[in-house]
Amino acid sequence: MWNTACESLGNAWQQPDRYAGAVPPDFADLFRRRHDDAPDLIAIDGTDRFILDEAPHVHGDALRQPGEVAVVDDRYGVLTLGAITLHGASDVRVVQDSLVGVRALEANAGTFGRRGFHHPGSLEQAFRDVRLVLLRLSKSNDRLDELARAVARFAAPDVVLLCGGVSKHMNLSQNDVLRRYFGEVTASRGRGKSRLLIAQDPLRAQATRADATNPWPRSVHVDDLGMTLVAHGGVFAGTSLDQGTRVLLDAMDGAVPTARTAVDLGCGNGVIATALARRRPGIRVVATDVSQIAVASTIATARANGVTDRVEVVRSDAGDELAEGSSQLVLCNPPFHEDTTVSTDAAEAMFRNAATILQSGGELWCVWNSHLRYRPVLERLVGTTRQVVRTPKFTVTASRRA
Ligand SMILES: C[S@@+](CC[C@H](N)C(=O)[O-])C[C@H]1O[C@@H](n2cnc3c(N)ncnc32)[C@H](O)[C@@H]1O
Repeated sequence: MWNTACESLGNAWQQPDRYAGAVPPDFADLFRRRHDDAPDLIAIDGTDRFILDEAPHVHGDALRQPGEVAVVDDRYGVLTLGAITLHGASDVRVVQDSLVGVRALEANAGTFGRRGFHHPGSLEQAFRDVRLVLLRLSKSNDRLDELARAVARFAAPDVVLLCGGVSKHMNLSQNDVLRRYFGEVTASRGRGKSRLLIAQDPLRAQATRADATNPWPRSVHVDDLGMTLVAHGGVFAGTSLDQGTRVLLDAMDGAVPTARTAVDLGCGNGVIATALARRRPGIRVVATDVSQIAVASTIATARANGVTDRVEVVRSDAGDELAEGSSQLVLCNPPFHEDTTVSTDAAEAMFRNAATILQSGGELWCVWNSHLRYRPVLERLVGTTRQVVRTPKFTVTASRRA
């Protein structure tokens, strides 16, 4: 165990004076072991370590005071449990977009026998008066914009926002986003494959300005749809309409016209669920997504279009939580990325769950990038599949549950 950690941290552990305070190997190893069965998903990486190593140097005082630290988009709980276990933080406020991350944190907290954190219900509650924010960067500048704005608006004047990312996925525009809301923004030198951005001196006036140019959530009326789309920072497609989504929307009037219940798997900004509810006044739609940003955006889109009474929004991993045989129609524009990694795992989990959710004779209508060749997968996981429409880029299929 010790040797593995020594290798992965370079020579850090052979030079204790120089690296005092770095993440100890037994902590790192615990996280690595928990995810041996999912080798693609590395539970702790150099970016988490870098953030945890630097946290006491940028605002050690905040780490020692209860309730003064917030952690954002922690993938598996490493940052939260590291702040608690290694640095003595307590009453840590945690914001995690993905339900998978929330569950990983809960499970890992059980392993460590640690609590000392909670998930506040809003960004204001998450950041009000905090003095240190540890943030794992995603690929979305809009996500960073909404978060940085909220930190600058609600946190204490001496707050430090410590952001970490993988250098190859970072770009200068992230510094520009932070400079909108902070007077001082510095970038660390790279360490391994990672880099940190440190923002201080929150510009509260800028972050609070109630002008129309930059509010979150953002709202746009799409004329040809006759609908308003509402997006929180980082939701798929933002306030625009994805090309694949449009192809599905154009085809979906033919989807099980008699259905009284439908599910939108991976609802994003809620465009499909809301359009369906608007076009079919009798139908009830359950919209689900693993992402809190998507859930919040879908609720807002449904509200903006007056269909909240028939669109229920549930945060769920691939529809796992939906009842067996609860729906006659499932609509899906599946993901093919997990943040920066191309993956069809979530799509296949959705297809598998669609087969469970559907009543006998019900159909999964799905749009996908034609090069993905999902048809045999749909045949195997759901049932007889026919092509409804094919454009140069996208295919819509209907898969019938026997
Ligand atoms: C291609 S987008 C489609 C969004 C929206 N339906 C649209 O057409 O604009 C896929 C959506 O699936 C969501 N997603 C990814 N993995 C998921 C999972 N494991 N469970 C549920 N939703 C997931 C993403 O958050 C994203 O909102």
